[in-house]
Amino acid sequence: MAGNKMDNIVNLCKRRGIIFPSSEIYGGIGSTWDYGPIGVHLKNNVKAAWWKSVVQERDDVVGLDAAILMHPDTWKASGHIASFSDPMVDCKRCKRRFRADHLVESMKKEEDAVERTPEEMSNMERALESVMCPECGGELTSIRQFNLMFKTYMGPVEESAAIVYLRPETAQGIFVNFKNVQTSTRKKLPFGIAQIGKSFRNEITPGNFIFRTREFEQMEIEYFTRPEEAEEWHKKWLQDRYDWYISLGINPEKLRLRPHGEDELAHYACACSDIEYEFPIGWSELEGVANRTDYDLKQHMEVSGKDLSYFDETTGERLVPYVVEPSGGVDRALLAFLSDAYEEISGGRGEAGAESEVVLRLHPRLAPIKTALLPLAKKGGLPEIAKDLQNQLRKCFMTDYDERGSIGRRYRRQDEIGTPWCITVDFQSVEDQAVTIRDRDTMEQARVSLDKVKSFIKDKLEEC
Ligand code: GAP
Repeated sequence: MAGNKMDNIVNLCKRRGIIFPSSEIYGGIGSTWDYGPIGVHLKNNVKAAWWKSVVQERDDVVGLDAAILMHPDTWKASGHIASFSDPMVDCKRCKRRFRADHLVESMKKEEDAVERTPEEMSNMERALESVMCPECGGELTSIRQFNLMFKTYMGPVEESAAIVYLRPETAQGIFVNFKNVQTSTRKKLPFGIAQIGKSFRNEITPGNFIFRTREFEQMEIEYFTRPEEAEEWHKKWLQDRYDWYISLGINPEKLRLRPHGEDELAHYACACSDIEYEFPIGWSELEGVANRTDYDLKQHMEVSGKDLSYFDETTGERLVPYVVEPSGGVDRALLAFLSDAYEEISGGRGEAGAESEVVLRLHPRLAPIKTALLPLAKKGGLPEIAKDLQNQLRKCFMTDYDERGSIGRRYRRQDEIGTPWCITVDFQSVEDQAVTIRDRDTMEQARVSLDKVKSFIKDKLEEC
């Protein structure tokens, strides 16, 4: 089982129905992935945990689900048409395409698209004069800007007037709805709007499994504050979001905060800090928390001609709020949870022979399946007891039923997908109406009567 941890995670995901390469029977499409029967629960649980923490448990944040296709002027106003691009060069001989900045600073780590000044561009042009294609040594073209937004056409006619974009961030659906949400909820500053949804970027260098893909999901909050309070809220959100990852079991030693330098800031931000995780590929951005100032609301006011200001009834003042934005990726968070939970135990834990085994020590709230029903025999009334119990439990949470193979092998299959509690039904169960519940992490076993199993597991889930 030795080898690269990322490869081992990718293999486990494929083998156990967590994540599959998209359109695999056609050779794949590159950089998109499909969540399988187990992975879909994990993903839903990540999103539910986020929603519970930022909407359900707070008074000052409400939810939204805006459309992916938006009026194209949205992207003029947001600056994405002008600035959301990477500088590219093509090899004239082998036709391969490269990011110009990566060639110049080939030792530098990959980064997300940032805006560059004309001066930086011409410096890069000069530096590239002496650089040849790293693949074949051929001559390179001059730099061209490559916009990362996917274009499509609205309606049956493919003409420039019908061009729309697949949103590259969910944030803009929130900004254009600021007035609708504020007036319909009568929220007072400070308050936030949270949204989970798909975003699309035609990334030049996608890769590292679900870390950087062209279709991904974001979990974003736009938190509207008085301008003078934005800095304070920026700090608070950074801490809140950091704590959320810890509360779901992420090892604090693999999590750190990294403030952006001036030259890294996106065109809309005056400050930003990343929450970084030590993925198997090294330390990389998990989530960004930015102070977007009043940039977006002002831009939308100017381009749409609509008033998006806020009237403060206590001070009688009209103002354009500042925005603090915690913005994370669902897929990237899921990769962090998977990497953190993944443990290979060489020689196994003794229950399934001497083979090496994998235990996914996912936080129970994130675990795709909470409990598996395992009758020790296919006879003697054991399957019936197990199925009856499953029918009670499945009303509260996801369950599984497995009667095939040795009990050691069955434990192992559940450990691989992170099931926290396995319930075995044995011949004694027919007599004493009780079952054995095995804890995934401690491997401790508790004998619990059938009528107490539901509350036993519900209590454990609430405790964690
Ligand atoms: N609204 C601000 C925004 O979109 P970003 O730093 O470009 O900021 C926020 O993206 C988060 O979205 C990132 O921290 C990352 O978790 C996720 N993300 C961005 N691009 C991604 C991609 N190509 N694949 C997967 N996740 C991505």
